[in-house]
Amino acid sequence: MSKVVTIEKISEYEGKEIVLKGWLLRKRSSGKIHFLQLRDGTGFIQGVVVKSEVGEELFKLCKGLTQESAIEVTGTVQKDERAPSGFEITVNNVSIISLAKEGFPISKKDHGTDFLMEHRHLWMRSPKQNAILRIRDEINLAIRIFFHERGFTLTEPPIITASSCEGTTDLFEVEYFGEKAYLSQTGQLYAEATAMALGKVYTFGPTFRAEKSKTRKHLTEFWMIEPEMAFVQFEENLKIQEEMVEYIIQKVIDNRQMELKILGRNIDELKKIKGTFPRIKYIDTIKLLQDNGFDFKWGDDFGAPQETFIAEQYDKPVFITHFPKEMKAFYMQPDPDDPKVILGADLIAPEGYGEIIGGSERIHDLDLLLERMKEEKLEEELYEWYVDLRKYGSVPHSGFGLGLERTVAWICGIDHIRQTIPFARTLNRLYP
Ligand code: 4AD
Ligand code: MG
Repeated sequence: MSKVVTIEKISEYEGKEIVLKGWLLRKRSSGKIHFLQLRDGTGFIQGVVVKSEVGEELFKLCKGLTQESAIEVTGTVQKDERAPSGFEITVNNVSIISLAKEGFPISKKDHGTDFLMEHRHLWMRSPKQNAILRIRDEINLAIRIFFHERGFTLTEPPIITASSCEGTTDLFEVEYFGEKAYLSQTGQLYAEATAMALGKVYTFGPTFRAEKSKTRKHLTEFWMIEPEMAFVQFEENLKIQEEMVEYIIQKVIDNRQMELKILGRNIDELKKIKGTFPRIKYIDTIKLLQDNGFDFKWGDDFGAPQETFIAEQYDKPVFITHFPKEMKAFYMQPDPDDPKVILGADLIAPEGYGEIIGGSERIHDLDLLLERMKEEKLEEELYEWYVDLRKYGSVPHSGFGLGLERTVAWICGIDHIRQTIPFARTLNRLYP
Protein backbone atom coordinates (compact mmCIF):
# COMPACT_ATOMS: atom_id res chain seq x y z
CA MET A 1 0.00 0.00 0.00
CA SER A 2 1.31 3.43 -0.90
CA LYS A 3 1.45 6.14 1.71
CA VAL A 4 -1.36 8.68 2.05
CA VAL A 5 0.24 12.14 1.84
CA THR A 6 -0.89 15.76 1.61
CA ILE A 7 -0.07 18.11 -1.27
CA GLU A 8 1.74 20.40 1.15
CA LYS A 9 4.30 17.64 1.83
CA ILE A 10 4.46 16.28 -1.70
CA SER A 11 8.05 17.47 -2.32
CA GLU A 12 9.26 14.85 0.14
CA TYR A 13 7.98 12.09 -2.14
CA GLU A 14 9.58 12.84 -5.52
CA GLY A 15 9.71 9.69 -7.63
CA LYS A 16 7.60 7.72 -5.15
CA GLU A 17 4.12 6.32 -5.45
CA ILE A 18 1.68 8.00 -3.08
CA VAL A 19 -2.04 8.24 -2.35
CA LEU A 20 -3.86 11.59 -2.28
CA LYS A 21 -7.32 12.06 -0.82
CA GLY A 22 -9.04 15.14 -2.10
CA TRP A 23 -11.41 16.73 -4.54
CA LEU A 24 -11.49 17.47 -8.23
CA LEU A 25 -11.28 21.21 -8.77
CA ARG A 26 -11.31 21.08 -12.59
CA LYS A 27 -10.64 18.75 -15.42
CA ARG A 28 -9.23 19.24 -18.89
CA SER A 29 -9.27 16.39 -21.35
CA SER A 30 -8.10 15.36 -24.75
CA GLY A 31 -8.86 12.01 -26.29
CA LYS A 32 -5.70 10.58 -24.80
CA ILE A 33 -5.02 12.52 -21.59
CA HIS A 34 -7.01 13.91 -18.66
CA PHE A 35 -5.51 16.69 -16.60
CA LEU A 36 -7.09 16.56 -13.16
CA GLN A 37 -6.71 19.68 -11.03
CA LEU A 38 -6.77 18.30 -7.52
CA ARG A 39 -7.08 19.96 -4.14
CA ASP A 40 -6.85 18.44 -0.69
CA GLY A 41 -7.12 21.46 1.59
CA THR A 42 -3.34 21.84 1.94
CA GLY A 43 -2.67 22.75 -1.68
CA PHE A 44 -3.37 22.22 -5.35
CA ILE A 45 -1.71 19.86 -7.79
CA GLN A 46 -2.25 18.45 -11.26
CA GLY A 47 -2.77 14.75 -11.83
CA VAL A 48 -2.09 13.44 -15.32
CA VAL A 49 -4.03 10.41 -16.54
CA VAL A 50 -2.64 8.92 -19.74
CA LYS A 51 -4.98 6.52 -21.54
CA SER A 52 -2.23 4.34 -22.94
CA GLU A 53 -0.83 3.84 -19.42
CA VAL A 54 -3.97 3.36 -17.33
CA GLY A 55 -6.21 1.52 -19.79
CA GLU A 56 -9.72 2.12 -21.14
CA GLU A 57 -11.68 1.50 -17.98
CA LEU A 58 -9.91 3.91 -15.65
CA PHE A 59 -9.68 6.51 -18.41
CA LYS A 60 -13.46 6.30 -18.83
CA LEU A 61 -14.04 6.58 -15.08
CA CYS A 62 -11.98 9.79 -15.04
CA LYS A 63 -13.96 11.14 -17.95
CA GLY A 64 -17.10 10.88 -15.85
CA LEU A 65 -15.67 12.79 -12.89
CA THR A 66 -17.65 15.91 -12.08
CA GLN A 67 -16.31 19.09 -10.50
CA GLU A 68 -15.90 18.70 -6.71
CA SER A 69 -16.12 14.93 -6.75
CA ALA A 70 -14.23 13.44 -3.82
CA ILE A 71 -11.59 11.01 -5.00
CA GLU A 72 -8.63 8.97 -3.92
CA VAL A 73 -5.76 9.16 -6.38
CA THR A 74 -2.75 6.86 -6.51
CA GLY A 75 0.19 7.99 -8.56
CA THR A 76 3.86 8.85 -8.81
CA VAL A 77 5.20 12.26 -7.82
CA GLN A 78 7.13 13.99 -10.62
CA LYS A 79 9.01 17.24 -10.57
CA ASP A 80 7.45 19.90 -12.80
CA GLU A 81 9.03 23.33 -12.81
CA ARG A 82 5.94 24.97 -14.34
CA ALA A 83 3.52 23.79 -11.65
CA PRO A 84 2.82 26.17 -8.74
CA SER A 85 3.59 23.36 -6.31
CA GLY A 86 6.67 22.36 -8.33
CA PHE A 87 5.27 18.86 -8.83
CA GLU A 88 2.63 16.86 -10.63
CA ILE A 89 1.29 13.36 -10.26
CA THR A 90 1.33 10.66 -12.90
CA VAL A 91 -1.87 8.92 -12.01
CA ASN A 92 -2.16 5.16 -12.05
CA ASN A 93 -5.39 4.68 -10.13
CA VAL A 94 -8.45 6.70 -9.11
CA SER A 95 -11.29 5.63 -6.88
CA ILE A 96 -14.41 7.66 -6.31
CA ILE A 97 -15.37 8.48 -2.73
CA SER A 98 -18.37 10.52 -3.79
CA LEU A 99 -19.39 11.63 -7.24
CA ALA A 100 -20.55 15.26 -7.06
CA LYS A 101 -23.85 16.28 -8.62
CA GLU A 102 -23.57 18.18 -11.89
CA GLY A 103 -23.77 21.95 -11.68
CA PHE A 104 -21.44 23.03 -8.88
CA PRO A 105 -22.54 26.64 -8.45
CA ILE A 106 -19.07 28.21 -8.52
CA SER A 107 -17.71 27.93 -12.01
CA LYS A 108 -14.76 29.68 -13.56
CA LYS A 109 -16.81 32.50 -14.98
CA ASP A 110 -16.98 35.76 -13.06
CA HIS A 111 -19.60 35.73 -10.33
CA GLY A 112 -20.70 38.84 -8.50
CA THR A 113 -19.70 39.26 -4.87
CA ASP A 114 -23.25 38.78 -3.59
CA PHE A 115 -23.50 35.48 -5.37
CA LEU A 116 -20.16 34.37 -3.99
CA MET A 117 -21.04 35.42 -0.43
CA GLU A 118 -24.37 33.60 -0.75
CA HIS A 119 -22.34 30.50 -1.63
CA ARG A 120 -19.57 31.17 0.85
CA HIS A 121 -19.69 27.56 2.09
CA LEU A 122 -18.58 26.48 -1.41
CA TRP A 123 -16.61 29.57 -2.46
CA MET A 124 -14.08 28.96 0.31
CA ARG A 125 -12.83 25.92 -1.63
CA SER A 126 -11.33 28.07 -4.37
CA PRO A 127 -7.55 28.68 -4.37
CA LYS A 128 -7.64 32.34 -3.31
CA GLN A 129 -10.15 31.88 -0.52
CA ASN A 130 -8.29 28.82 0.61
CA ALA A 131 -5.02 30.78 0.71
CA ILE A 132 -6.61 33.56 2.77
CA LEU A 133 -7.92 31.13 5.36
CA ARG A 134 -4.56 29.44 5.64
CA ILE A 135 -2.82 32.78 6.13
CA ARG A 136 -5.44 33.65 8.75
CA ASP A 137 -4.52 30.47 10.57
CA GLU A 138 -0.82 31.31 10.35
CA ILE A 139 -1.45 34.76 11.83
CA ASN A 140 -3.61 33.24 14.54
CA LEU A 141 -0.86 30.85 15.53
CA ALA A 142 1.89 33.48 15.29
CA ILE A 143 0.00 35.71 17.71
CA ARG A 144 -0.44 32.94 20.24
CA ILE A 145 3.21 31.93 20.05
CA PHE A 146 4.34 35.56 20.26
CA PHE A 147 2.50 36.19 23.50
CA HIS A 148 3.13 32.78 24.99
CA GLU A 149 6.89 33.13 24.46
CA ARG A 150 6.82 36.51 26.19
CA GLY A 151 5.15 35.22 29.33
CA PHE A 152 1.58 36.37 28.63
CA THR A 153 -1.31 34.26 29.90
CA LEU A 154 -4.35 33.80 27.65
CA THR A 155 -7.48 34.71 29.60
CA GLU A 156 -10.97 34.54 28.13
CA PRO A 157 -13.39 37.37 28.79
CA PRO A 158 -17.15 36.78 28.89
CA ILE A 159 -19.03 37.23 25.63
CA ILE A 160 -22.29 38.20 27.31
CA THR A 161 -21.91 41.31 29.40
CA ALA A 162 -24.18 43.45 31.54
CA SER A 163 -22.67 46.75 30.48
CA SER A 164 -21.07 48.38 27.49
CA CYS A 165 -17.28 48.03 27.47
CA GLU A 166 -16.24 50.42 24.72
CA GLY A 167 -19.09 52.78 23.89
CA THR A 168 -22.83 52.81 24.25
CA THR A 169 -23.68 52.86 20.57
CA ASP A 170 -23.19 49.80 18.36
CA LEU A 171 -24.32 47.28 20.98
CA PHE A 172 -26.09 44.03 20.17
CA GLU A 173 -28.68 43.51 22.84
CA VAL A 174 -29.64 40.05 24.07
CA GLU A 175 -32.31 39.08 26.51
CA TYR A 176 -30.74 37.36 29.50
CA PHE A 177 -33.41 35.63 31.59
CA GLY A 178 -35.57 38.70 31.62
CA GLU A 179 -32.69 41.15 31.91
CA LYS A 180 -30.94 43.26 29.33
CA ALA A 181 -27.47 42.09 28.34
CA TYR A 182 -25.09 42.72 25.45
CA LEU A 183 -22.70 40.85 23.20
CA SER A 184 -19.23 42.05 24.07
CA GLN A 185 -17.63 44.79 21.99
CA THR A 186 -14.23 44.19 23.58
CA GLY A 187 -12.69 42.00 26.25
CA GLN A 188 -10.53 44.82 27.53
CA LEU A 189 -12.12 45.69 30.85
CA TYR A 190 -12.03 42.04 31.86
CA ALA A 191 -8.44 41.78 30.62
CA GLU A 192 -7.55 44.63 32.96
CA ALA A 193 -8.90 42.50 35.82
CA THR A 194 -6.99 39.40 34.76
CA ALA A 195 -3.83 41.49 34.26
CA MET A 196 -4.01 42.59 37.89
CA ALA A 197 -4.16 38.89 38.80
CA LEU A 198 -1.62 37.51 36.30
CA GLY A 199 0.57 40.46 35.24
CA LYS A 200 0.64 40.09 31.48
CA VAL A 201 -2.40 38.66 29.76
CA TYR A 202 -4.13 38.62 26.42
CA THR A 203 -7.58 37.76 25.22
CA PHE A 204 -8.36 36.35 21.81
CA GLY A 205 -12.00 36.08 21.00
CA PRO A 206 -14.98 37.20 19.00
CA THR A 207 -16.32 40.71 19.51
CA PHE A 208 -19.55 42.20 18.26
CA ARG A 209 -20.48 45.64 17.02
CA ALA A 210 -23.85 46.59 15.60
CA GLU A 211 -22.13 49.03 13.27
CA LYS A 212 -24.27 50.16 10.42
CA SER A 213 -21.14 50.79 8.36
CA LYS A 214 -21.07 49.31 4.89
CA THR A 215 -17.36 49.64 4.28
CA ARG A 216 -14.69 47.21 3.26
CA LYS A 217 -13.28 47.35 6.81
CA HIS A 218 -16.29 46.62 8.99
CA LEU A 219 -17.77 43.37 10.20
CA THR A 220 -20.42 43.06 12.90
CA GLU A 221 -18.63 40.03 14.33
CA PHE A 222 -14.85 40.06 14.33
CA TRP A 223 -11.97 38.61 16.32
CA MET A 224 -9.78 40.74 18.48
CA ILE A 225 -6.50 40.10 20.27
CA GLU A 226 -6.25 42.21 23.39
CA PRO A 227 -3.07 42.17 25.43
CA GLU A 228 -3.12 43.95 28.78
CA MET A 229 0.03 44.57 30.78
CA ALA A 230 0.51 45.64 34.39
CA PHE A 231 3.31 48.20 34.97
CA VAL A 232 3.55 48.99 31.25
CA GLN A 233 3.17 52.58 30.06
CA PHE A 234 2.52 54.38 26.81
CA GLU A 235 5.85 54.04 25.00
CA GLU A 236 6.44 50.42 25.95
CA ASN A 237 2.92 49.63 24.78
CA LEU A 238 3.81 50.89 21.30
CA LYS A 239 7.05 48.90 21.25
CA ILE A 240 5.28 45.61 21.89
CA GLN A 241 2.85 46.41 19.08
CA GLU A 242 5.73 47.00 16.67
CA GLU A 243 7.38 43.78 17.72
CA MET A 244 4.15 41.81 17.38
CA VAL A 245 3.31 43.12 13.91
CA GLU A 246 6.85 42.42 12.67
CA TYR A 247 6.70 38.93 14.15
CA ILE A 248 3.37 38.08 12.53
CA ILE A 249 4.52 39.27 9.11
CA GLN A 250 7.77 37.37 9.35
CA LYS A 251 5.91 34.14 10.17
CA VAL A 252 3.61 34.57 7.19
CA ILE A 253 6.55 35.29 4.88
CA ASP A 254 8.44 32.27 6.24
CA ASN A 255 5.59 29.76 6.17
CA ARG A 256 3.00 30.92 3.63
CA GLN A 257 4.99 31.76 0.48
CA MET A 258 2.76 29.69 -1.75
CA GLU A 259 -0.44 31.27 -0.44
CA LEU A 260 0.97 34.81 -0.82
CA LYS A 261 1.85 33.89 -4.40
CA ILE A 262 -1.66 32.60 -5.13
CA LEU A 263 -2.97 35.95 -3.86
CA GLY A 264 -0.46 37.89 -5.94
CA ARG A 265 0.73 39.69 -2.79
CA ASN A 266 3.76 41.92 -3.18
CA ILE A 267 6.07 40.38 -0.60
CA ASP A 268 8.60 43.22 -0.88
CA GLU A 269 6.01 45.57 0.62
CA LEU A 270 5.63 43.22 3.57
CA LYS A 271 9.38 42.84 4.04
CA LYS A 272 9.63 46.56 4.81
CA ILE A 273 7.54 46.13 7.95
CA LYS A 274 10.36 45.98 10.49
CA GLY A 275 11.77 47.94 13.40
CA THR A 276 10.30 51.16 14.72
CA PHE A 277 7.11 52.51 13.17
CA PRO A 278 6.68 56.25 12.59
CA ARG A 279 4.55 58.21 15.05
CA ILE A 280 2.51 61.33 14.45
CA LYS A 281 0.46 63.24 16.99
CA TYR A 282 -3.20 63.87 16.23
CA ILE A 283 -2.57 67.62 16.39
CA ASP A 284 0.10 67.33 13.70
CA THR A 285 -2.20 65.41 11.40
CA ILE A 286 -4.48 68.49 11.33
CA LYS A 287 -1.82 70.60 9.65
CA LEU A 288 -0.75 67.79 7.36
CA LEU A 289 -4.33 67.28 6.20
CA GLN A 290 -5.16 70.97 5.89
CA ASP A 291 -1.98 71.64 3.90
CA ASN A 292 -3.13 68.97 1.50
CA GLY A 293 -6.57 70.29 0.88
CA PHE A 294 -8.60 68.34 3.45
CA ASP A 295 -11.24 70.06 5.50
CA PHE A 296 -10.21 68.85 8.95
CA LYS A 297 -10.19 70.41 12.41
CA TRP A 298 -9.55 69.53 16.06
CA GLY A 299 -12.03 66.88 17.22
CA ASP A 300 -12.76 65.50 13.76
CA ASP A 301 -12.44 61.78 13.23
CA PHE A 302 -10.54 60.47 10.24
CA GLY A 303 -12.59 59.20 7.36
CA ALA A 304 -11.10 56.61 5.04
CA PRO A 305 -9.62 59.24 2.64
CA GLN A 306 -7.84 61.11 5.45
CA GLU A 307 -6.61 57.92 7.05
CA THR A 308 -5.31 56.64 3.74
CA PHE A 309 -3.61 59.95 2.99
CA ILE A 310 -1.77 59.89 6.31
CA ALA A 311 -0.76 56.25 5.79
CA GLU A 312 0.57 57.07 2.30
CA GLN A 313 3.20 59.35 3.81
CA TYR A 314 5.01 56.27 5.14
CA ASP A 315 5.91 52.80 3.90
CA LYS A 316 5.33 51.22 7.29
CA PRO A 317 2.32 51.29 9.57
CA VAL A 318 2.05 54.62 11.42
CA PHE A 319 0.96 55.36 14.97
CA ILE A 320 -1.39 58.30 15.35
CA THR A 321 -1.06 59.30 19.00
CA HIS A 322 -2.45 61.77 21.56
CA PHE A 323 -6.05 62.04 20.39
CA PRO A 324 -8.39 64.52 22.09
CA LYS A 325 -9.83 62.71 25.08
CA GLU A 326 -13.43 63.36 24.00
CA MET A 327 -12.83 61.24 20.91
CA LYS A 328 -11.79 58.16 22.84
CA ALA A 329 -13.11 55.74 25.46
CA PHE A 330 -13.45 56.75 29.11
CA TYR A 331 -10.62 54.52 30.38
CA MET A 332 -7.79 56.17 28.45
CA GLN A 333 -5.10 57.92 30.51
CA PRO A 334 -4.86 61.67 29.88
CA ASP A 335 -1.36 62.95 29.14
CA PRO A 336 -0.09 64.54 32.39
CA ASP A 337 1.68 67.22 30.29
CA ASP A 338 -1.45 68.02 28.27
CA PRO A 339 -4.59 66.55 29.86
CA LYS A 340 -6.83 67.34 26.90
CA VAL A 341 -5.20 64.48 24.97
CA ILE A 342 -4.78 60.84 25.87
CA LEU A 343 -1.77 58.53 26.01
CA GLY A 344 -3.14 56.27 23.33
CA ALA A 345 -2.47 55.44 19.72
CA ASP A 346 -4.13 53.93 16.69
CA LEU A 347 -1.91 51.96 14.35
CA ILE A 348 -2.78 52.62 10.71
CA ALA A 349 -1.71 49.99 8.20
CA PRO A 350 -0.18 50.98 4.85
CA GLU A 351 -1.91 50.73 1.48
CA GLY A 352 -5.27 52.02 2.68
CA TYR A 353 -6.05 49.13 5.03
CA GLY A 354 -6.85 51.53 7.84
CA GLU A 355 -6.70 51.16 11.60
CA ILE A 356 -5.59 47.71 12.67
CA ILE A 357 -4.83 48.49 16.34
CA GLY A 358 -6.35 50.77 18.95
CA GLY A 359 -4.60 50.98 22.30
CA SER A 360 -3.70 53.15 25.26
CA GLU A 361 -2.37 53.51 28.74
CA ARG A 362 -5.33 53.14 31.14
CA ILE A 363 -6.38 55.45 33.92
CA HIS A 364 -5.08 53.90 37.13
CA ASP A 365 -6.03 56.69 39.53
CA LEU A 366 -9.33 56.00 41.29
CA ASP A 367 -10.62 59.58 41.46
CA LEU A 368 -9.72 60.35 37.88
CA LEU A 369 -11.49 57.21 36.67
CA LEU A 370 -14.63 58.09 38.63
CA GLU A 371 -14.55 61.58 37.18
CA ARG A 372 -14.26 60.29 33.60
CA MET A 373 -17.06 57.79 34.18
CA LYS A 374 -19.27 60.59 35.42
CA GLU A 375 -18.46 62.70 32.35
CA GLU A 376 -19.39 59.80 30.13
CA LYS A 377 -22.56 59.15 32.18
CA LEU A 378 -21.73 55.49 32.84
CA GLU A 379 -23.90 53.70 35.38
CA GLU A 380 -21.54 53.32 38.34
CA GLU A 381 -23.26 50.26 39.69
CA LEU A 382 -22.45 48.21 36.61
CA TYR A 383 -18.78 49.16 36.71
CA GLU A 384 -18.23 48.65 40.43
CA TRP A 385 -16.05 45.64 39.81
CA TYR A 386 -13.94 47.65 37.35
CA VAL A 387 -13.53 50.48 39.85
CA ASP A 388 -12.39 47.90 42.44
CA LEU A 389 -9.28 47.37 40.30
CA ARG A 390 -8.31 50.98 41.16
CA LYS A 391 -9.05 50.51 44.85
CA TYR A 392 -6.94 47.44 45.42
CA GLY A 393 -3.38 47.49 44.16
CA SER A 394 -3.86 49.81 41.21
CA VAL A 395 -0.80 50.21 38.97
CA PRO A 396 -0.08 51.97 35.69
CA HIS A 397 -1.04 49.57 32.92
CA SER A 398 -1.60 49.54 29.19
CA GLY A 399 -2.96 47.41 26.44
CA PHE A 400 -4.28 47.35 22.93
CA GLY A 401 -6.63 45.55 20.58
CA LEU A 402 -5.57 44.15 17.20
CA GLY A 403 -8.39 43.42 14.77
CA LEU A 404 -7.61 40.01 13.28
CA GLU A 405 -9.61 40.40 10.08
CA ARG A 406 -8.17 43.80 9.15
CA THR A 407 -4.71 42.41 9.74
CA VAL A 408 -5.44 39.41 7.52
CA ALA A 409 -6.86 41.68 4.80
CA TRP A 410 -3.75 43.83 4.83
CA ILE A 411 -1.23 40.99 4.86
CA CYS A 412 -3.13 39.15 2.12
CA GLY A 413 -3.54 42.36 0.13
CA ILE A 414 -7.22 41.72 -0.57
CA ASP A 415 -9.83 44.35 -1.12
CA HIS A 416 -12.55 43.41 1.37
CA ILE A 417 -12.59 42.20 4.95
CA ARG A 418 -15.49 39.81 4.29
CA GLN A 419 -13.07 37.38 2.64
CA THR A 420 -10.85 37.12 5.71
CA ILE A 421 -13.20 35.12 7.95
CA PRO A 422 -14.88 31.81 7.06
CA PHE A 423 -18.39 33.20 7.45
CA ALA A 424 -18.59 36.98 7.52
CA ARG A 425 -21.32 38.82 9.40
CA THR A 426 -22.05 42.23 8.00
CA LEU A 427 -24.87 44.75 8.03
CA ASN A 428 -26.80 42.74 5.47
CA ARG A 429 -25.44 39.24 5.74
CA LEU A 430 -26.43 36.52 8.17
CA TYR A 431 -26.40 33.62 5.69
CA PRO A 432 -24.88 31.11 5.36
O1 4AD B 1 -10.15 50.61 18.43
P1 4AD B 1 -11.05 49.60 19.04
O2 4AD B 1 -12.48 49.93 19.15
O3 4AD B 1 -10.42 49.30 20.47
C1 4AD B 1 -10.96 48.57 21.46
O4 4AD B 1 -11.97 47.91 21.40
C2 4AD B 1 -10.08 48.53 22.69
N1 4AD B 1 -10.89 48.08 23.81
C3 4AD B 1 -8.89 47.66 22.45
C4 4AD B 1 -7.97 47.58 23.63
O5 4AD B 1 -7.30 48.53 23.93
N2 4AD B 1 -7.93 46.46 24.31
O6 4AD B 1 -10.92 48.24 18.25
C5 4AD B 1 -9.66 47.61 18.11
C6 4AD B 1 -9.46 47.08 16.71
C7 4AD B 1 -9.48 48.14 15.63
O7 4AD B 1 -8.24 48.79 15.52
C8 4AD B 1 -9.81 47.31 14.40
O8 4AD B 1 -8.66 46.66 13.91
C9 4AD B 1 -10.73 46.27 14.97
O9 4AD B 1 -10.52 46.20 16.36
N3 4AD B 1 -12.13 46.61 14.69
C10 4AD B 1 -12.88 46.04 13.73
N4 4AD B 1 -12.61 45.09 12.83
C11 4AD B 1 -13.59 44.70 11.99
N5 4AD B 1 -14.82 45.21 12.01
C12 4AD B 1 -15.17 46.17 12.89
N6 4AD B 1 -16.41 46.63 12.93
C13 4AD B 1 -14.17 46.63 13.81
N7 4AD B 1 -14.16 47.53 14.82
C14 4AD B 1 -12.92 47.51 15.33
MG1 MG C 1 -10.27 52.33 17.36
